[in-house]
Amino acid sequence: MRERVTADPFAFDPFSSPCCRVALLGFGTVGSAVARRLTTLDSDRAPAIRLTHVLDRRAEEKRRHTPLAGVAWTTEIADVLQSDADVVVEAIGGVDPAVEWIRAALAAGKSVVTANKQAIARHGAPLLALAARQGRQLRFEAAVGGAIPIVRAIGDGLAGDRITRIDAILNATTNAVLSLVEETGCSIDCAVRAAQALGYAEADPSADLDGDDARAKLAILCALAFGLRVDPSQIPAQSTASIDGADIARARARGAAIRQIAHADFDRATSTLTAWVAPIEVPRESIFGRATGPQNAAIVAGEHSGETGIFGVGAGGDATAVAILSDIAAIARDKAAVVPAPVLDSAFHIPHSSFQIPVAEAV
Ligand code: HSE
Repeated sequence: MRERVTADPFAFDPFSSPCCRVALLGFGTVGSAVARRLTTLDSDRAPAIRLTHVLDRRAEEKRRHTPLAGVAWTTEIADVLQSDADVVVEAIGGVDPAVEWIRAALAAGKSVVTANKQAIARHGAPLLALAARQGRQLRFEAAVGGAIPIVRAIGDGLAGDRITRIDAILNATTNAVLSLVEETGCSIDCAVRAAQALGYAEADPSADLDGDDARAKLAILCALAFGLRVDPSQIPAQSTASIDGADIARARARGAAIRQIAHADFDRATSTLTAWVAPIEVPRESIFGRATGPQNAAIVAGEHSGETGIFGVGAGGDATAVAILSDIAAIARDKAAVVPAPVLDSAFHIPHSSFQIPVAEAV
């Protein structure tokens, strides 16, 4: 018996799989990394996934700087909506106009892949409902944890369990800052500038240090793990900006490290969600203490599976592009065999009073 073996997960048989056309919104750190991967996937065969359109507000300048063969550049969302693209990748970030454009793309019959944690945390449920009505997919693996497949792990891989608790490092910038200060003794400001230069930080890095970024990601994980719709602004957050080199050195002397931890546990018996984001001391030899630079880590506890750990690079163009390409591949494969996207449930609205922060544990 002769079997056709393809080692490259993107190398669909071009004769049996229709080509999947991709339009990209945003050509910044993440968007340009996605474009680079999509245009170098499978150079010697007919590609099964093809980048056809790039939208960027500085399209002309970026096109001159990075010419991409066979790609149409535009500044107009209408050009993308009216195009023959099957999948729209949203890599512009922020809520406005990203949410409106995701909605418009789904309404125009496209599937959407996004790295946008704020859009999914705040508007994920209605957008997923729209995608389902349209018979299209909305995938968001890149919105949480960069390259680590935590959305699939919780929304799909552990779907057979009842998840009770999540502890995680979800912000790569803060982790890179804390570990750089720990390793070199440099100032927090200097470490933040290094993270910005490497493309990890948000446009305003206070969103990283103050916990807004991790709150949005934790809200998404709460939806996937517990079926709860949580407003990220309801999750208490303590800023890491108040941590200094002396705090870090003291922790180090105790065999500990300071990490920004996002925690959520859900008591189903009392319908109580406890969730917070705060810099806390963790044992240096734990999965969290060993996460350095832009790494993220998570321990997910389930009633039947016990603890499952996941660890890897949580930000940066190349790492985030991996998650986006994985989502595109899942959608492209879906043309032959349906793989449903993870579902954000909206069963509960949690009253503000049910959030707790264990003050004793916070630094
Ligand atoms: N600023 C974010 C972080 C980018 O540092 O984790 C990835 O979501």
